[in-house]
Amino acid sequence: MKAAICTRYGDPRVLVFTDRPIPTPKANELLVRVRASTVSSADWRIRSLTLPRGFGPLARPALGLFAPRQPVLGTELSGEVMDVGSAVTRFKPGDLVFAFTGSGLGCHQEYRCVAEDSAVALKPHNLSHAQAAALSFGGATMLDFYRRAGLKAGDRVLVNGASGTVGTAAVQLARHRGAHVTGVCRRQHAGLVRTLGAERVLDRATEDFVCTEAPFDVIVDTVGSAPHARCAPVLSPGGSLLLVLSSLPQMLLAPWHGWRSDHRVIAGPVKERPEYIHNLRELALAGAFTPVIDSTWSFRQIRQAHARVDQGSKCGSVVVLLGDADDPA
Ligand SMILES: NC(=O)c1ccc[n+]([C@@H]2O[C@H](COP(=O)([O-])OP(=O)(O)OC[C@H]3O[C@@H](n4cnc5c(N)ncnc54)[C@H](OP(=O)(O)O)[C@@H]3O)[C@@H](O)[C@H]2O)c1
Repeated sequence: MKAAICTRYGDPRVLVFTDRPIPTPKANELLVRVRASTVSSADWRIRSLTLPRGFGPLARPALGLFAPRQPVLGTELSGEVMDVGSAVTRFKPGDLVFAFTGSGLGCHQEYRCVAEDSAVALKPHNLSHAQAAALSFGGATMLDFYRRAGLKAGDRVLVNGASGTVGTAAVQLARHRGAHVTGVCRRQHAGLVRTLGAERVLDRATEDFVCTEAPFDVIVDTVGSAPHARCAPVLSPGGSLLLVLSSLPQMLLAPWHGWRSDHRVIAGPVKERPEYIHNLRELALAGAFTPVIDSTWSFRQIRQAHARVDQGSKCGSVVVLLGDADDPA
């Protein structure tokens, strides 16, 4: 099978194709033929070794000294079950599934084994492989942050960076919970963010959310430009600041804000819980969450797909199709 391998840290040219044997599923695993995956901000960070401030010294020991220890990137997939291990009971060959491998990566190859009890579920029938592949990264991130924040109906939520993968999930999932959403993005994406459920959209070039009169119960920062000192005046008493993107000092100091003020600051890596994937499936089936797709590339265009993510201004997810997945099955 064909696999895209990250040979060292650097620009998209470090990605090369190689032939690998098709893996054999263990007793508790399914062998999935990957039909679609995404190039996420996590793939860009790992490939280019671009980490938020303070994480630099930890990067190579954690990820690999000269190249990623897991050279096949890709955190999410949609595809077809080709084979199952002897102990698998919930899936069978022919099932269409989507999965979030998260920090385990390994989706940029034609076949991937996933454990039955990991983050894998039947593909929602109303989504294409391209859409299903893009369900998990932003969706699981925001389910985890909103769970930690205790988001509830009626909350006033501000999403800074509302047009990215995480931002478009943040808007849709908050709206579905009955929150009132304000999005901050480029003017050209304002219409999209409104259709996702934002009642108000601020143009990031001309409107500063800290100058708005309305206080917010929850502020989601996917950009890294909304530290607590900046948000405090517009965060309601008891409000939560969700630093999806945070520096190491911000992450370590997050609990301190709770002791010094009546705000909660929540930061750090998301927990990769299999239950999120089942929640996302239900939300997709109900029409409450549909991933936004920035662009679609063939597998042989994987370098171009990475280059698109490197630009830092994608609107939703960058999808890579493998095999003949161009059909909207
Ligand atoms: N804590 C975690 O476990 C976790 C999980 C997932 C992601 N993340 C991090 O979260 C960040 C966002 O991820 P993503 O996948 O959503 O990235 P993305 O799709 O690239 O989205 C980033 C968005 O930020 C917008 N943006 C850039 N500068 C802005 C500004 N000054 N004001 C408002 N918006 C601005 C960009 O849109 P425009 O430039 O077009 O406005 C883009 O849509 C990444 O840094 C990622 O590493 C963390």
